[in-house]
Formats: sequence, C-alpha cells, structure tokens
Amino acid sequence: MTAPLNPPKPNASIILGIESSCDDTAAAILCDGKILANIAASQTVHEQYGGVVPELASRAHQSNIIPVIDQALKQAGISHNDLSAIAVTQGPGLMGSLLVGNNVAKGLCIANNLPLIGVDHLQAHVAALFIDNEVDLPMLCLLVSGGHTQLIWVESIDRMEIIGSTQDDAAGEAFDKAAKLMGLGYPGGPMVDQLAKDGDPKKYAFPDSQTEELHFSFSGIKTSLLYFLRDRQKEDADFLAKEISHVCASYQQQIVASLMKRLDKAILQRRPASLGLSGGVSANSALREAFQAMADKRNLLAYIPAFAYCTDNAAMVAMAGYHRYLRGEFTPLDATPFARSNH
Ligand code: KG4
Ligand code: ZN
Repeated sequence: MTAPLNPPKPNASIILGIESSCDDTAAAILCDGKILANIAASQTVHEQYGGVVPELASRAHQSNIIPVIDQALKQAGISHNDLSAIAVTQGPGLMGSLLVGNNVAKGLCIANNLPLIGVDHLQAHVAALFIDNEVDLPMLCLLVSGGHTQLIWVESIDRMEIIGSTQDDAAGEAFDKAAKLMGLGYPGGPMVDQLAKDGDPKKYAFPDSQTEELHFSFSGIKTSLLYFLRDRQKEDADFLAKEISHVCASYQQQIVASLMKRLDKAILQRRPASLGLSGGVSANSALREAFQAMADKRNLLAYIPAFAYCTDNAAMVAMAGYHRYLRGEFTPLDATPFARSNH
C-alpha cells in the first residue's frame, strides 16, 4: 500500500463525522480543522415515490454506512486507531435514519475507546461555512434545504440563534412539490432550475405569503401553482408543454424574492458583518445570483460553500464536532437521537 500524501501528525485532532439524518449516508474525516475525506452515498430508491420514504431511508443507511465510513478512513489514509473522537448528527431528522448513524457511532466509540459528540444538524449546516474560511462575525446565515428554511444569527461556530423560520413548507419542498405537479422527477429543485434558464421570470405572477416578522411560508405558492396549472390546462391541454420554462422561471423567481425580502429585512434589523448561504437549495443559480447581489448592495462579505458542503454532508458534522472536541464537550453514550429541533 502507498503511504497517504498527508499522513496525520501524531497528536493531531482527528474527527470522524457521520451524517444520516435524512436520505444521505455520509462520513468525513477532519484533521486539525482540515477536511481529509468527505464521502456521501445518496439514496436513489426514493425517486420512484417522489419523496423520501422513511423506512426505505433507514434500510439504505444500514447497507451504506459501514462502506461509507471505511471509504472515508481509506481516503484519509488512517485507521480507527488514529481517531480522536466521533461526531454524529443527533437530530433533527428522521428517527429511523438518525438511529442508524447514532448506533454505529456509539458502537465505534465503545470499540475504540473514543468520545462521542452529538451534533445538531442545523448547527452543522452553519459550521459548513467555517470550512476553509475565516468568517467575519457576526454572520447572518440563510439556510435553505429540503427540510429547513431559516435565518440564523451566528455569533460564533457554536453560538447562534434562529431568528426566522418557515411556518409550513421549506423552500426545497416548494421546489420539489412544484416539480411533482409538473411531472418532473424527484428531487425537483435542480430540474426547475435547469428549465428556468430558458424562461422569462416575469411572464407569470405567483404570490408571496404574508408572514410575521422574519418568518417564511411556501405552502401558498405551491397551492397557487396547482390552481394556475389546472385553470390554464382547462383552456389549453398543451399549456404546460409549451410554457414549462416560463412557469419554472416565474415560480423560482418568486421563491427567491420571498427569501431575499426576509434576508434584507434581517440585515437592516441586525447589521451583520457577513452573509452565509447553506443547504441544498443554495445550488439554485437564481438564488446564488440574488444572494451575491444582496451582499453587494449592502456591502457585506458573502460566503457560499462548495456544493459538497451545502447539501447534507458529514464534513459539516465533523467541523461542528471539532470545536466541541477542543472544549472537551462530549455526549454520553446513552444519549438518544431527537427527531425535532425543540428537544
Ligand atoms: O440540504 P439538502 O441536500 O437536504 C435536506 O436537508 O433537505 O437539500 C435538498 C433540497 C431538495 O429539496 C432539492 O430539490 C433542493 O435542495 N435543491 C435545489 C437545487 N438543488 C437542490 N433547489 C433548487 N435549485 C437547485 N439547483
Ligand atoms: Zn440538511
């Protein structure tokens, strides 16, 4: 076997991160704050159902998790003996999925006499912004994924406050449900994004829901699309086939506008030093453009991590765990995963 290019130093802090909260089985190795490996196995079994099926997700995690961890160790050129601690997503997420990651993490901790660090999934998404970055703090982070839409006020990697969240659907869900209505596959966000590139975002108008303060709501826009398509197709059965790119562009434009409206309101209220964007929806090209334009308009630094760190991944879990490791904040081995945030 050839020696790894960057063998870890004898006293380095080496964290194995494990993520299994939804439908991605992921493992990463972080050595003194630098990512050595970041492996993820996405589950394609859900595509035929148009959404994540919890029981199938936890079964797929069981098949994938050991190979994914082994691959991460191999890529980093280390063995279990070199690890300093194991960080695992403790919640929120799907209980059956979380249990797989947590039980494997605990088993490895017992077998190798390592401390366990249970990490909050949302804090991990924020920690992704700190990978390879000296972040200007305080930062205002917009977290947009299939499960969450939040504005987070970040004072440090482990001190943060949720100042806005969705009252119903997440932004990613709004994309996925629209894609389903239009007969596109799952997850639909990337397809809506692609089709929107050839469309006119001003051609059709979709409404923004009224919300309190800095909160979001995306169930109304999805319902308005449902009625819009039904009415238009009554008049012309080929409407969608002819207009799909304009519908996608207009719908996407309104989701981005709703996000930017609350983001700007929060910037003016809180006056952050920088802005961060995280979560799978951050791949959206219109959102990226609008986010950067907002940062430029308000003269703020903008952090948008590489996509591998935006979507569900274990590098962000290892990064959040690393800072807890340095402070000696460990999780008891009898701790249980939590499905919801207000545990
Ligand atoms: O963070 P993530 O991988 O998983 C969750 O924690 O949910 O986010 C997945 C979500 C899905 O809803 C997917 O449709 C959306 O991110 N997404 C996008 C794009 N790429 C992924 N939405 C809009 N445009 C994209 N390019
Ligand atoms: Zn996530």
